[in-house]
Amino acid sequence: MAVVDRRPETRRGAPVKEVEQVSQGSLATFFNPKAIAIVGASRTEGKIGHSVVKNAVQSGYTGQIYPINPKESEILGLRAYPSIGEVPGPVDLAALVVPAPAVLPVAEECGRKGVKHLVTITAGFKEVGREGLERERRLVDICHRYNMRLLGPNCLGMMDTHTPLNVSFAPGLALKGEIAFVSQSGALQAAILDWSFKNGLGFSRFVSLGNKADLSEIDFIADAADDPNTKVVLVYIEGVNDGKRFLRVAREASRKKPVIILKSGTSQAGAQAASSHTGALAGSDLAYETAFKQAGVLRARTMEELFGLAVAFINQPIPRGDRVAIVTNSGGPGIIASDAVEANGLSMARFQKETVDALRAGLPPECALYNPVDLIGSADGARYRFALDLVARDPATDNLLVLLTPPDQAEPMKTAEAVVEIHRQHPDIPVFASFMGGERVAEASAHMFRNGVSVYDFPEPAVQAIKGMVRYSKMRQLAAIGRPERIDDVDRKLVSTIFDKVRDDNRRVLLGSEAARAIRAYGIPAAPAVLARDPEEAAQAADTFGYPVVLKVASPKILHKTDVGGVKVGLKTAEEVQKAFVEILDNIHRFLPGHVIHGVEVYKMMPQGTELIIGLSRDLQFGHLLMFGLGGIYVNLLKDVSFRLVEGLTRSEIEGMISETKAYSLLRGFRGAKPADVGAIVDALARVAQLARDFPEITDIDINPLFAYEKGAQPEGITALDVKITIS
Ligand code: ACO
Repeated sequence: MAVVDRRPETRRGAPVKEVEQVSQGSLATFFNPKAIAIVGASRTEGKIGHSVVKNAVQSGYTGQIYPINPKESEILGLRAYPSIGEVPGPVDLAALVVPAPAVLPVAEECGRKGVKHLVTITAGFKEVGREGLERERRLVDICHRYNMRLLGPNCLGMMDTHTPLNVSFAPGLALKGEIAFVSQSGALQAAILDWSFKNGLGFSRFVSLGNKADLSEIDFIADAADDPNTKVVLVYIEGVNDGKRFLRVAREASRKKPVIILKSGTSQAGAQAASSHTGALAGSDLAYETAFKQAGVLRARTMEELFGLAVAFINQPIPRGDRVAIVTNSGGPGIIASDAVEANGLSMARFQKETVDALRAGLPPECALYNPVDLIGSADGARYRFALDLVARDPATDNLLVLLTPPDQAEPMKTAEAVVEIHRQHPDIPVFASFMGGERVAEASAHMFRNGVSVYDFPEPAVQAIKGMVRYSKMRQLAAIGRPERIDDVDRKLVSTIFDKVRDDNRRVLLGSEAARAIRAYGIPAAPAVLARDPEEAAQAADTFGYPVVLKVASPKILHKTDVGGVKVGLKTAEEVQKAFVEILDNIHRFLPGHVIHGVEVYKMMPQGTELIIGLSRDLQFGHLLMFGLGGIYVNLLKDVSFRLVEGLTRSEIEGMISETKAYSLLRGFRGAKPADVGAIVDALARVAQLARDFPEITDIDINPLFAYEKGAQPEGITALDVKITIS
């Protein structure tokens, strides 16, 4: 039997230390099994079953590897067994690379053997249609029965460079590093791995999710958050299966370390049919966008951004602020970088006088001394070193960006050495570099990257990475504030009764007066409203409310009531009310003959306030999505709205959602007006969220307009004028 040398080695040939620390999470044995089996192992080069054995052997894994093949007694120098049942010792993890029809019996055998984890590489499951879906369902059943966790099926496999272990048919083991990369696309992962070899980027873990029949990105985000070898978690997904769990787990994880997600499939195609303003403004991707924001997850829009951010986070400290200092040897790139700083919402550092004076004293008179500091084309390594030292010491420098173009006088390598030294001397300042060019700067860039400077080909991605770091630092602070509160002074029973009646009537949409009662039951002030069946009832209601009043036809099916003469405003006497009632019925008869209405609703006419909207729609993955913004008839045109998911929503997040709209400027007292009662709006949003939590059957709510009144005026606080609620 051939002896295989399985001493741990990296691709660069440097010896790898023994396993440093074992992950403490529930997937500890998944990433660090004592023994693995590869079922479908093959001697034939080119077969996936051969690659998986080869990778496991070459990864330097020090546990037992058992190839399973009914016809072979030895594969790649390892003793092979005809079935997993015949393996002498225990097996923690089994990789399945047998054809799809053989997967279920093999999984069953693994269960009987006491295997804890299955990595099912085999394709031919739910991705191929009904038969595959049934096979996948049965595979999950087997795993549940035997308490096995399942990765895949239809995946590339997984690796952990710190164990080290490679259970995949990827082109080799990743370089050792601190990035955990979890991906729903195995093909993309294979490409990234190849790219990472060229760029010297290392990974702690590499997980291909495949069909996510059991283990998903959520499990791996949770586990990576506690993995001492992982500093940054990168995820590529096409969607999440359990939005609420994702939110809980990602929120926890991103407090511990940066979680950066690239989610594809952002088109509106899957948007739910919009029966409300909120639904129309939300769309399918918005729930993801909101979930990521609320969970403190950074969203990358491109692969370049995903890895650009990773390169920043693995090497740099979290910046203490958003000010950027730029040192360059040419004007153009300096201006491009300054533009990018502004476009990304960051600010340029303003140096103190001492820094500028010291720069002036030591630099040629042609140099620009204010940010960006332009050392001009003749700058050599020493000039960079001199300027970088002063700039890094200035208290306004939160982030340092070093640019270089290579004219003949430039000394890329000496400059790179200076950048590395400054980075070492100032470990609290993130240092980014972009040496633009090709061969003349390649070695210098590699030197900086190897020594912990975050290096980019061009200035814009560097600035984008700074923005990501600043955002992460802000999001992490926000995510830490407060817990979702429960509001108890509500009349749940009343709302249940209203909803029951609506269902009994075979309706899904509440009448305006019913919806107003429902939100009032949850402590949200709504204009008095009542349903009248005849002119006398209407006049009676108006007398009770006081004049003036508004009459509206009561029919959830008529969306544009004014267009069909179904609304009469400013009615000042009982006679006017009775007359308006009859006119409304006549109009409906004329414009919509045969249309059955429930009656006419009488509303107390409220004094004008700032018109706001509070909305709610239900997302299939993430649950209820709350909306706030400028209301009235222009809501769709102006789109001055912000969103938050109800799941885990805190009061400070509600305050955040108000302050990010332009409406907030109005509420604070625009152009001499008195401020509105923002606290009352926060309270109303919290109460709508509570209503949604208590009644998951609510699919949509539109409170539009909600009048906000000036503080101290009469009336004060807020009043909901028009309320629409739809239930499922
Ligand atoms: N127990 C043990 N070994 C078995 C069993 C069994 N029950 N049944 C078959 N085998 C052996 C076979 O004898 C064979 O070994 P051999 O080469 O010595 O004859 C080995 O298992 C493989 O079986 P084959 O029939 O040769 O199957 P093949 O290797 O052609 O394909 C595979 C198997 C790779 C699992 C295939 O069915 C498959 O699913 N391919 C797609 C994989 C994929 O793309 N996954 C998604 C990746 S993600 C991405 O997009 C990159």
